[in-house]
Amino acid sequence: MSTNTVFLAAQLGDIHRISLREHFLTLDAADRHLRFGSSLNDSAVLNYVDGIDFERDEVYAVTDDAQAILGAVHIAVIGQDAELGLSVLSAVRGQGIGNALFERAVMRLRNRCVREVRVRCLHQNAAMMHLAQKYGMKIHQEGTDREARLELPAATTGTYMLEWLQDRQASYIGNLQDGSRFGQSMLAALPAFPVFPIGPVDHSNLKWRNENTQTTATATGRRPD
Ligand SMILES: CC(C)(COP(=O)(O)OP(=O)(O)OC[C@H]1O[C@@H](n2cnc3c(N)ncnc32)[C@H](O)[C@@H]1OP(=O)(O)O)[C@@H](O)C(=O)NCCC(=O)NCCS
Repeated sequence: MSTNTVFLAAQLGDIHRISLREHFLTLDAADRHLRFGSSLNDSAVLNYVDGIDFERDEVYAVTDDAQAILGAVHIAVIGQDAELGLSVLSAVRGQGIGNALFERAVMRLRNRCVREVRVRCLHQNAAMMHLAQKYGMKIHQEGTDREARLELPAATTGTYMLEWLQDRQASYIGNLQDGSRFGQSMLAALPAFPVFPIGPVDHSNLKWRNENTQTTATATGRRPD
C-alpha cells in the first residue's frame, strides 16, 4: 500500500464479529493495554467483541482484499455521550488508517448530532496523543491516564452528502472484495471522496468543555460508570 492510498472505512455489523475477534486477538499485550486501558487476555477480548451492541454503537473498519480487518474504530454512544476506541494492526501502521478511522467516526458522530467525543489516551501512547493533538482534542489528565475530548461541529448538508457517498463507495468496494481479489487494487484506483471535502474541522471555531462531565458510553469494554 502506498502512502497515497485513501482508506475507506466500511460499517460493520453482527456478521463481522468473527473478523473483529481475529483483529483484536492479533493485538499484542502492549497494544491491548493502549486500546482498552488494560492488557485484556484473549477471553476478555472475546467477551468485549461479543458485547458490542451494533444496534446502539457503530463500528467501522478498513479491511484488506481478503476482508481481514486492518483497523477498526468502535463508536460507543449513549445519548450525547460518545467514546471512540481505535486499533490498527502493527504491520500496517503509519499509513493513514488511524487517521481515516478517526475522521470517519467524527463525521458519523456529527451526523448523529452528537456534540462531544472522547478517546482514552494513556500517557505513553505517543501515536494517539499525536492524533488527538492533530485534531485539536483537549487532553484531560487523571493520574497517568488521559482522556482526549473533542467538541464536534454540527452536521451540515455537506457532511450528510459525503457520508452517503462514502458509504456507497465502501459498499461497492466491499462487493468487489466479496467476489474477487481485485478489491484492493480497485480501491487504490478509484477516486475516493476525502473525508472532509469542505476542509478539515476548523478548530478555531470549536468550544471546549472544561467541566468534568459524567460519561457512560464505553468503547473499551469497561462497564459504564
Ligand atoms: C493509535 C493507532 C490507532 C494509530 O494508527 P495508524 O494507522 O498508525 O495511524 P496513522 O498512520 O493514520 O497516523 C498516525 C499518526 O501518528 C503519528 N505517530 C505514529 N507513531 C507515533 C509516535 N510514536 N509518536 C508520535 N507520533 C506518532 C504518525 O506520524 C501519524 O501522524 P500524521 O497523522 O500527522 O501523519 C495505532 O497506533 C494503534 O492501533 N495503537 C494501539 C491501540 C491504541 O493505542 N489505540 C488508541 C487508544 S483507543
